[in-house]
Parts: sequence; C-alpha cells; structure tokens
Amino acid sequence: MEFDVFSLLPEVFPPYLNSSILHRARQRGLIDVRIHNIRDWAADKHHVTDDEPYGGGGGMVMKVEPVFAAVESVLGPFGSGEDVPFGDDVDRTSTGSARRLTPSRCPAGRATPEACCPVILLTPQGRVFSQKIAMELVRHPRLALICGRYEGVDERIREHLVTDEISIGDYVLTGGELPALILIDAISRLIPGVLGDPDGAMDDSHATGLLEYPHYTRPPEYRGWGVPEILLSGDHAKIEKWRREQSLRRTFKRRLDLLESAPLSETDRKVLKEIQEEGEDS
Ligand code: ADE
Repeated sequence: MEFDVFSLLPEVFPPYLNSSILHRARQRGLIDVRIHNIRDWAADKHHVTDDEPYGGGGGMVMKVEPVFAAVESVLGPFGSGEDVPFGDDVDRTSTGSARRLTPSRCPAGRATPEACCPVILLTPQGRVFSQKIAMELVRHPRLALICGRYEGVDERIREHLVTDEISIGDYVLTGGELPALILIDAISRLIPGVLGDPDGAMDDSHATGLLEYPHYTRPPEYRGWGVPEILLSGDHAKIEKWRREQSLRRTFKRRLDLLESAPLSETDRKVLKEIQEEGEDS
C-alpha cells in the first residue's frame, strides 16, 4: 500500500517510520510512505505557505496554491481519470464527510472506489477515526494525506481537492502530522504480513467490536500477584471461553456504548445478562 503525505514538517515522520513494525513493513515492500514537503511547491522566493485570513481575526491560514501544486504534481492534475463515487458501504455516520472521489484521483481503467486514491485532510473537523474507518481505508492501494497546520486551511482546498476529512478525536493538536502517522500505523497493521502473527489484528480491541481480553506473560507470579489459573491449564476451549467473557466484561464496564453495535451471539447475551445481574447484586 502506498501513502503520499503532504506536510510542512516532513522531519517529524522518519523517526517513527524507521522504527519497529512500520520500518520492517517498509523494508519488505508492504508499505511505501512518501513524505512531501508542501513548502517545496510554494512559488515565491520565501516559500511562503500561510497568510492572514480574509476578514481579519487571529491566526494564519494555509495557502491554497502550494497545497494544490504539491498534491497535483504527485497525484496528477485535476480532471484526468474517471469520475467514481465512493461505494455505498462507506461509513458516513459520524459527520458524513466521506465524499465523492473526484476525477483526478481515479486512474482511467481502474474505476472502482478501491482503485482510487482518496485525498484525506487531517483536521479536527473530520469524521472521527475508528477501527472501522481503518478497515475501509486499507481497501485502497494508495492514500494521500494532507496535514493541516496553522489555524486552518483555505476552504478551497476542502471544497475542490480533498475527498475525505478525518479527525483522530475531539481535541485540537498543532497540526495533522501526528494524526497522519496514526492513520498510517492503524491502516498498515491491517495489511497481511505487516504483523508477525497473521491473526494479530483479529482479536484487537475494536476489531471484534469489543475491547480485548487481559493478557499475561511470564513470570506466573510477581510480588504475590498471580495469573488466572485457566491460562496455565492448556485447555484451549476453556481459555477461548474465558477470553470472550473477559472481553464482554471489560466492554460492559468501560465502553457500554460499543455493545450496542457489537455482533453478539446468544451465549454472549447470556453472559452479559449475568454480568449485569452481578452488578445489581453488589
Ligand atoms: N489537526 C489538529 N487536530 C487534529 C485532530 N484532532 N485530528 C486530526 N487532525 C488534527
């Protein structure tokens, strides 16, 4: 999978991308992350990328020309390729900001949503990132990520260049660089081969719609704190059952909201009823 990242702070990316799992994934050719410095496309002699907002007020606004120039020089000019809408299965629930993929981002002859390259602006105004969105985005062979800085970006970037806007949560950072790394990380680990364990992403918190069960490793006792006996029993069926129950218990206690949409079996529902009754008794 390919990522094209457009940023005014390209130096923040290598330390993370050159570490651990993402580094190995890059070396093995499973992901290719290209960092583009938007400043390189600022046409004036001082390479200015921001300006005062029309209408006054504080803060600076990211200029439209360098961002368009950077993205179009890497992805191809606006207007080529085919006009392809997103598939109907795209999550639009949080803010509805997943929009039509514009012609420039869809190579001719590969006119499926998956073949197109979404142009994603990282902004606190976007739809809130989730495991579900990571699973949706991993279907694309290529993603373009634009990292906003300053007070915001010229609205024409949003209106005419960007196809999707994503926030990593309801708080405001100084820029979109950390959010871009978060997307790259969460999406890359879903690509087969990126994690050492092929099933590594399957039990993750949120992948199943539930929080993950607790983990333990050696030693079996530390400062008098043991490990649940069942995990040492070698009985895999019982361990699976215990883990599922722990997942349900954790989700019930910490993230009741997730249970509304998690796929639950009849047995899960019975277990949840018991957990609820325990709470009522105590
Ligand atoms: N830029 C600043 N804050 C952000 C956030 N919460 N998510 C995505 N991009 C951002």
